[in-house]
Amino acid sequence: MSPLDRIKTYADELTALRHDIHAHPELGFEEVRTAGLVADLLQGYGIEVHRGLGGTGVVGILKGRTENGRRIGLRAEMDALPIEEATNLPYRSTVPGKMHACGHDGHTTMLVGAARYLAETRDFDGTAVFVFQPAEEGLGGARAMIKDGLFQKFPVDEIYGLHNSPNGPHGRLRTRPGPIMAAADFFDIRIIGRGAHAAEPQRGIDPIVVGTALAQAMQSIVARNADPLKSCVVSITQFHAGAAYNVIPESAHLAGTIRTFDAAIRSLASERIRALAKGYAAAYGAEIEVEIQDVFSVLENSAEQAAAAAEIATELFGSDNVEADCTPRMGSEDFADMVMAVPGAYAWLGGIPGPGLHNASYNFDDSLIPLGSAYLARLVERRTVA
Ligand code: NI
Repeated sequence: MSPLDRIKTYADELTALRHDIHAHPELGFEEVRTAGLVADLLQGYGIEVHRGLGGTGVVGILKGRTENGRRIGLRAEMDALPIEEATNLPYRSTVPGKMHACGHDGHTTMLVGAARYLAETRDFDGTAVFVFQPAEEGLGGARAMIKDGLFQKFPVDEIYGLHNSPNGPHGRLRTRPGPIMAAADFFDIRIIGRGAHAAEPQRGIDPIVVGTALAQAMQSIVARNADPLKSCVVSITQFHAGAAYNVIPESAHLAGTIRTFDAAIRSLASERIRALAKGYAAAYGAEIEVEIQDVFSVLENSAEQAAAAAEIATELFGSDNVEADCTPRMGSEDFADMVMAVPGAYAWLGGIPGPGLHNASYNFDDSLIPLGSAYLARLVERRTVA
């Protein structure tokens, strides 16, 4: 029986697990219930389980018929987002202000499904390493696991990650060799002016006027500084200042993100933000502090592993449902740090089109569960072959 057919026989149980995780979302590094659920299930399948890696991470180790084979890592994320869910699903979030709006409930379930299949069939030689990571959403869960010795304690020859894509086409797997997702920096800009009565602006230094001027000037980084042939995004996503109609506030806070693929463009964008801040501080007599954090690296698929991912998806889903050289995206993913440590490949699996990732009305497409589980399981069966 093919992995897909076999996993379909218990797809209902996996869907129930997904709904349970969905109803109980936990933010990054707080995935205690989710991690416990995963660890108990793996243990129940006879898989060796290690808890608490990188905080709330879980690692499962499953040996095949013999150890004469390669070691293949599969990774899923467990964290939810700080979003108030706006669906009427019977299993909607029971936690106010928290929601699985990126489908990590589905990814965790797909990896549990693959682990169960592999534990029941053990039709491989070598080792499967199941990595359930915490805190993917900008909090550094992958780096925390790596720092905690993930690849020293549980070495793998290669590693694979899978993410749903609610833009369809349904059941199509997309991957590519080389860069597939962008690097991300998060920036904070604090403008310290001088507060004053709104009717006496001459006595103050208005941080809102400075901030709006700086925000406009920052649009020139992509438009005028970056090589047009190299992708760059500079998005200001927060602007906080003031609390009254008649008070010029003392300070303003801007924050946002830079997305790039090229290291030189990445440092150029940071340098330009700092230079503009310095210039606008001098021009307006304000003080401006800039803090820029490196949050995500470029996610770069290894050529051999990306080709293997596409080949296995073709075997399972047919060539019409595989894109082996898809367009990269400016989004980011901390799986990037794992594939910097070992060769690997990341792929997207298209779901029935619906509200996008990180949207309050988003819901993971349950029909992807057996597809994703079968793909992950088959990676182990085929890639462990020495
Ligand atoms: Ni995600």
